[in-house]
Amino acid sequence: MSKRYAVVLAAGKGTRMKSRLYKVLHPVGGKPMVQHVVDQIKEVDVERIVTVIGHGAEKVKDQLGPEVDYVLQEEQLGTGHAVMQTEDLLGDLEGTTLVVCGDTPLISSETMEGLLCHHEKENAKVTLLTAHAEDPTGYGRVIRNEDGTVSKVVEHKDASLQEQAVQEINTGTYCFDNKLLFAALKQVTNDNVQGEYYLPDVIEIAKDLNETVAAYQTPTFEETIGINDRVALSQAEILMKKRINRQHMKNGVTIIDPQQTYIASDVQIGQDTVIYPGTVITGETKIGEECIIGPNTEIKDSQIGNETTVKQSVVHDSEVGDQVAIGPFAHIRPQSNLGNNIKVGNFVEIKKSKMDDGSKASHLSYIGDAEIGKDVNLGCGSITVNYDGKNKHLTKVEDGAFIGCNSNLVAPVTVGKNAYVAAGSTITEDVPGEALSIARARQLNKEGYVSKIQDKQNNLRGE
Ligand code: UD1
Ligand code: CA
Repeated sequence: MSKRYAVVLAAGKGTRMKSRLYKVLHPVGGKPMVQHVVDQIKEVDVERIVTVIGHGAEKVKDQLGPEVDYVLQEEQLGTGHAVMQTEDLLGDLEGTTLVVCGDTPLISSETMEGLLCHHEKENAKVTLLTAHAEDPTGYGRVIRNEDGTVSKVVEHKDASLQEQAVQEINTGTYCFDNKLLFAALKQVTNDNVQGEYYLPDVIEIAKDLNETVAAYQTPTFEETIGINDRVALSQAEILMKKRINRQHMKNGVTIIDPQQTYIASDVQIGQDTVIYPGTVITGETKIGEECIIGPNTEIKDSQIGNETTVKQSVVHDSEVGDQVAIGPFAHIRPQSNLGNNIKVGNFVEIKKSKMDDGSKASHLSYIGDAEIGKDVNLGCGSITVNYDGKNKHLTKVEDGAFIGCNSNLVAPVTVGKNAYVAAGSTITEDVPGEALSIARARQLNKEGYVSKIQDKQNNLRGE
């Protein structure tokens, strides 16, 4: 096996997307298209990956980071011109160069490996990945000779009606003998409808040099779709969703309705977890085993333990332990940390708070900037008054404390271990451990009040 290199084309603006976001940065399955491409290339054995950047260069660099090399294509003069920009880095090397477009997010490492192997087996100088498209509109068509060998690729805009009828398309993924690639690129002209230097023109040049050009047809056109506009973007999203959900199901996750379940690419989910419809799980999220998630739940950038339930709720950027019950209708906001055996029930909002094992906030609470110990009961309507209009303050509730219903804990304040706060209290000072604190006006019953005011009213009316 000769040495392998890869080039990712990601300099285009993506005019057809009609977007402020550069095309290759549009997410599919929650991950930018070009990141999908690079992640898949990393799975095949290549010495280095060179990414051609131009439009949105800095943003693409920020996304892909230092694991790939970059070359700048200052003017976008076509895909051939784009590859030419890598000459300084790759031009002198012996080996095979895999070229992939940054706008084909569904292409898999298996298909790339298949293409590379075919290229090596055929001893070819150029091998292009082709596919059969029901609707080939917009793609370059693969024109074959009578003997079945590839003659050339004709871009849609340059194609005759007869050529447009061809359904075998160029997927935009190729293998080249590196030396031949750069020699041939020098001969590519921009004599075409778009006035661009087309990479696929290398095929004809190689043929003229009597070099072997091979084609490797993938049976799955869907995997090779190029995303040029938002219609294709939504198709890619559907296909990616299908692929991701399928993988989770194969790994032992039950997804009740895969069409209604949106799981981003790098999410991890443990065995025997059940996902109900309307669930959206994104970012760097990890969910444990035997959980019940959904329906209608959003979880982003969070870690969820085992046997935990999250129903009709939102969890962002937080950690949740084992056997926790969240929802229905709870909101766990960023930087929250819930231990094990916790209950966070209806209409409870938790923000930047830590709740230790066995604690409960079952109904109608706001818990912000708080440290809640073990086995604490936050009664219905418990509120941390964390904000004085300028600063946020900490509320501490120590192990075993019991906060009665409808209590305000005005921070900074601490409720000590095993203490009780009576219902309806507004706590402004620390409560010592083991104490009972009542902070509300004493109840006053006025006996016979109703008949007294009735007498008063009758007198006024002169009855
Ligand atoms: C290209 C192919 C076409 C193929 C299709 C597959 C050419 C001329 N055509 O067409 O045969 O069927 O892909 O999806 O190659 N780019 C640059 N610099 C440039 C131009 C493009 O980096 O100067 C990048 C783009 O960012 C994009 C990729 O190359 O990621 C493909 O460019 P695009 O304009 O989308 O090519 P297509 O018209 O789709
Ligand atoms: Ca494209």
